[in-house]
Amino acid sequence: MITAPREHWGSRTGFMLAAIGSAVGLGNMWRFSYLAAENGGAAFVLLYLAMTAGVALPVLLAELMLGRGAQQGPLRALVHFGGARWRPLGWLFVGAGFLILSYYGVIAGWTLRYTAEAIWHGFPADAAAHFAQISAGPVAVAWHLGFLALTAGIVAGGIQRGIERASVVLMPLLFAILAGLAVYAATVPGAGTGYAYYLQTDFGELLSLTVLRDAAGQAFFSLSLGMGAMMTYASYLRRDADLPDEAVVIALSDFAVAFVAGLVVFPLLFALGLQQDVGASTIGALFITLPHAFAEMGAAGRAVGLLFFAALLVGALTSAISLLEVVVSSAIDRGWSRPVATLGLGGAVGITGIAAALDTAVLGVMDQIAGNVLLILGGLAIALFVGWSMRDPEAELAAGAGRVHWFFLWRGLLRFVVPAVLAVVLASAIPAALQSLRALFD
Ligand code: PFF
Repeated sequence: MITAPREHWGSRTGFMLAAIGSAVGLGNMWRFSYLAAENGGAAFVLLYLAMTAGVALPVLLAELMLGRGAQQGPLRALVHFGGARWRPLGWLFVGAGFLILSYYGVIAGWTLRYTAEAIWHGFPADAAAHFAQISAGPVAVAWHLGFLALTAGIVAGGIQRGIERASVVLMPLLFAILAGLAVYAATVPGAGTGYAYYLQTDFGELLSLTVLRDAAGQAFFSLSLGMGAMMTYASYLRRDADLPDEAVVIALSDFAVAFVAGLVVFPLLFALGLQQDVGASTIGALFITLPHAFAEMGAAGRAVGLLFFAALLVGALTSAISLLEVVVSSAIDRGWSRPVATLGLGGAVGITGIAAALDTAVLGVMDQIAGNVLLILGGLAIALFVGWSMRDPEAELAAGAGRVHWFFLWRGLLRFVVPAVLAVVLASAIPAALQSLRALFD
């Protein structure tokens, strides 16, 4: 089918900021620091870095290469290189993007609401009761739909006028806010104990399988891998764009934001002695414990809290944009117009997400299935495809970059290391996800 000529990014910086925007999101600003504190502090940070470099980065580079080469969305990119038998994988990607956005929109809806409330009246004293009130039910549905409307508004603008323009404005804003907050957090009394808790080093923790799974899962989720988001963004690059350096910069920026977010969060919690409130629920902690801290801090807390949630909102928005673009670009490849695809599919995502907006238990299960299973499955398939099945990935990668000296290292990681690690992760994630799914219906 003949469609309009493919859009392209206006500049390399625009692409980079959009890709970093996809990576940096709800996953970085809380999940990472929480996992680090729970799983061995600095030792976990090192393991996470190893996972990022040895497992996630090779897959990121593979996704960028496939997207750039195919000049098509994820539904068609693998078919372009590998033939029709890879088509189901494209559907897995689009399905995962659809599912993730449908509950990500709910959490982002809470974030939008907290940001607005910080402006209107500050943070409530009883943060837990407030969260219980707003996290599920018709109000949560409304904020979820509001957030998705914002997301769809940007995606409808297209690559250059929508996504690139938003990323170029929003991402530097996020970096600036976060850096400012980290400097502020260093000055609060008790900051030292907060850092110590965050980065206390316990290498003993690293020996457990769950820690390995957490580190790998987090690396994938955080870099938006395993569902074609990076592939989609790369499909709007010109064929001769460079890739390996870009992949490294995206991964490093994502890590830097996650790490700095931890430097913001823990001093604030320790300054107020709230660390024991960091309970089992990661999502709840972000929306209960931190607002509690902001409420106790008075006027300064309101300003700091507003900035924190604004940064979180920016992160969520630029990630949600990439999730919607995966679905929309696939429809455009099949002949839909961008406005129709954005409205129709954005609307469908909104409706699906209502289930998560009405019940946080449903949201948790969706997160587990999508994040821990579908993304890892997608990453595994990409590694197997590029590692074993694709014809001459070296030539494809070299387009734009010139000769790639460490090609064998990359291919070797994709062939052996990535599949081995991801298979172990899946073996422990699938039973856990099935169990939560069953619990939901009991
Ligand atoms: N990377 C995002 C985060 O850390 O919040 C989440 C995400 C976005 C996952 C896009 C997957 C994706 F395709």
